[in-house]
Amino acid sequence: MTDVWSERADAYRESEAHRQGRDLELFAEWTAGKTVLDVATGGGHPALAFASIAHRVVACDLTEPMLAAARAHVRSRGGASVEFVAGDAGALPFRDEAFDVVACRTAAHHFADVAGAVRQIHRVLRPGGSLLLQDILGHDEADANAFILEVEKRRDPSHVRSYRAAEWKAFLRAAGLTVMDDSVIWKLREWNEWTGRMRMTTEARRDLEDFVRRAPERCRAAFDFQLTRDAVVSFNDRQVLIRADRD
Ligand SMILES: C[S@@+](CC[C@H](N)C(=O)[O-])C[C@H]1O[C@@H](n2cnc3c(N)ncnc32)[C@H](O)[C@@H]1O
Repeated sequence: MTDVWSERADAYRESEAHRQGRDLELFAEWTAGKTVLDVATGGGHPALAFASIAHRVVACDLTEPMLAAARAHVRSRGGASVEFVAGDAGALPFRDEAFDVVACRTAAHHFADVAGAVRQIHRVLRPGGSLLLQDILGHDEADANAFILEVEKRRDPSHVRSYRAAEWKAFLRAAGLTVMDDSVIWKLREWNEWTGRMRMTTEARRDLEDFVRRAPERCRAAFDFQLTRDAVVSFNDRQVLIRADRD
């Protein structure tokens, strides 16, 4: 596990998909003046976006090498005040009610126990505080969901699974968080960039492209896969954006 994430530190730091987006802008607006924890900060993009607007930002990620890369990136871009702490989302190393806002962006699909991570986030939020969550959205149709899960896992074996909106709401409700805002956004994935970021072997990538090509048309259509005769060009990733407040 450690090596996978350490090797990816540079890829996440450089990724355009992680570096920007309407979701990041929206999250930043919600952190104004607040004490914020960024769970699974990856390349540090959320923490950096919050740094100039929040009162205090703590960025947390599973491994030291990933944090070191995030720290170097955030510092080089003027985020001098961001604090970095190694920690597992399933056992956050912070006291109860320490934060006004917890952000978790494009990461929960890697967690082995999402319900446990949500309970931890609830614990470290003050009453009335907000979780800002963004993640890949599971599809409501079983075959489309199974198709995209296989695509994701073949490209990135650390992808555990993504959850449907109703599943997210159940996790949040069970932990004592109330959904205040939720929406779905689409992110265009350029195939070469998306597969290239995970450094797939040529063979694994060819197998994945065959899998996409052989899948039922309705499954590809559910994600707007664009194919030419010789190549997979792009698809649309559906992502859920939720703000949920601690009761
Ligand atoms: C896709 S990156 C996160 C991207 C980042 N949040 C952003 O918006 O740019 C996924 C991150 O989740 C982290 N991660 C995976 N499992 C974790 C866990 N159980 N606890 C904390 N971080 C975890 C990985 O180390 C990796 O940095």
